[in-house]
Amino acid sequence: MKLLAGKPGWTTKADVVVIGSGVAGLTTALNVRAAGLSVLLVTKALLDEGSTKWAQGGIAAALGPGDSPDQHESDTLIAGAGLCDLAAVKILVTEGPEAVRKLIARGAVFDRSDSGEISLTREGGHHRNRILHAGGDATGAEVSRALLEAIKGDDGIEVIEQALAIDALQDANGQVCGVTLHVIGQGSRDGVGQALAKAVVVATGGLGQVYSQTTNPSVSTGDGVALALRAGAQVADVEFIQFHPTVLWRDTAEGGQQPLISEAVRGEGAFLLNHKGERFMVKKHELADLAPRDIVAKEIFTQMRTWNIPHVWLDATGIADFEGRFPTIYASCKANGIDPTKQLIPVAPASHYASGGVLVDLNGRTSIKGLYVCGESACTGAHGANRLASNSLLEGLVFGARIASDIAANLPEQVLPVEDQNEGFLLNPAIKLTLQLTMSEGAGVMRSEESLQATLTTLDQLGTQLSSEPRIEAWEASNLYLLAEAIVRGALARTESRGSHWRTDFPLTDPAWEKRVVQKYDQKGRWSTTLSEVKK
Ligand code: FAD
Ligand code: SIN
Repeated sequence: MKLLAGKPGWTTKADVVVIGSGVAGLTTALNVRAAGLSVLLVTKALLDEGSTKWAQGGIAAALGPGDSPDQHESDTLIAGAGLCDLAAVKILVTEGPEAVRKLIARGAVFDRSDSGEISLTREGGHHRNRILHAGGDATGAEVSRALLEAIKGDDGIEVIEQALAIDALQDANGQVCGVTLHVIGQGSRDGVGQALAKAVVVATGGLGQVYSQTTNPSVSTGDGVALALRAGAQVADVEFIQFHPTVLWRDTAEGGQQPLISEAVRGEGAFLLNHKGERFMVKKHELADLAPRDIVAKEIFTQMRTWNIPHVWLDATGIADFEGRFPTIYASCKANGIDPTKQLIPVAPASHYASGGVLVDLNGRTSIKGLYVCGESACTGAHGANRLASNSLLEGLVFGARIASDIAANLPEQVLPVEDQNEGFLLNPAIKLTLQLTMSEGAGVMRSEESLQATLTTLDQLGTQLSSEPRIEAWEASNLYLLAEAIVRGALARTESRGSHWRTDFPLTDPAWEKRVVQKYDQKGRWSTTLSEVKK
């Protein structure tokens, strides 16, 4: 069932529409353009809004001496806890170094040592230093800057900012042939319109805003994943919401985006302490504070529950020149009254990354002809049950290029959309806060049958609060609602604990569950779930 929206008042056209201007969308757009096709890039706010510009730690790639794609593969598979698609991981780690070199050729500047070598740091789950970074802890800002410069230099890519993609346009056979958009513009392209295209690439990023506290910016409302679901595509692994272990804890109930303290801070020597000054990660894992993210988040949460404390501490006082190495984090600590060079930093987990998303093949194709998905919105299978640190920017670079090649080689003919006769679905935007708090409470770091059923009951109630006034907040709330349902249903289906899915009533990992939970949503608003084998 599509979203309630006004009839399109204007039409535009391109060979390919790319939705989203993060690393995934920009990389895809540049590569599609390089193949000689016309591109329309639409983005719901300003061009650099999205998770990409917030990325801190860096980009993982086997570029250092002694490193190899095989070692990167091994760390990725371990972090993914038995659920990675091996072919997707192999592509990520073997095509990754070249994709990073191409990014450098496009103008991205990474930090270098005095001798001119690219500086590599370490993050959770990596057995060696393989994370490139820029501006210390401002890697995403540099990636975004470089790609945006490249886009601006290409007049074959038309860009529309403040353009929110609402739903896919489809022909009588379901083939995607464009999108409906709401544009806050001027002149002829204002309000709801339609962009026709031979292929549509969703690159709308994550869905962190489903939760009350997240590292994700306000635009991360999962719009593209919801759009794909409504178009008939499948989602997979959505129960694997990654909670970043070290998000700055602030003594406030204020929700929304919270400041991240990068894992690279631990990579440079910082360590976690509980309120008694104990290094609780040391006995938990051979990598101690640099264990994969799910393990650290789970242990922090256990400490918080066991001792009834609102946060744990990160001791970064031993890092030489903290301000120079981590300028962004230094500034956000200082803005919150903490001097990380002298004081412990209070940290707690918050929602950070969707390891699952729209199920795609190795070329980003969904099961719907004409519809591709790239970046955090996609489930390539490369992350399994828990993404390895700094593999996300890399995924956008690698799979953006693959999608562009596939589109160039297989561009379908332009078909025409049929008008959707359904009235459309829209929720009252006022449900958003309750939805976020309910999801954090019942479907957060820890879940159980009881907490998930209670969450579903609240969601059912929220689902009755309809709206007849199409506007941005209502579309976003409706998308968040659809994704919350998918997450809870996925989490209920998976009766085990694995990666970032932690069921208190099924605390063990069950080998019988080395399967993907794949979900679909039909025109009548009904869900169906199937299990699929993981390709090893
Ligand atoms: P995004 O960069 O989120 O871009 C999505 C785009 O889609 C945005 O332009 C948005 O405005 C647009 N959009 C959304 N909805 C619509 C709509 N309806 N219509 C039109 N446009 C829409 N990963 C790493 O690999 N390394 C790191 O160091 C790292 N650090 C991180 C730090 C933080 C604080 C956060 C939040 C994430 C971090 N990640 C990191 C994860 C990584 O940044 C993201 O997964 C990645 O940037 C996602 O890229 P993307 O292009 O898929 O989405
Ligand atoms: C971080 O810098 O800790 C985030 C890295 C990531 O999400 O990959």
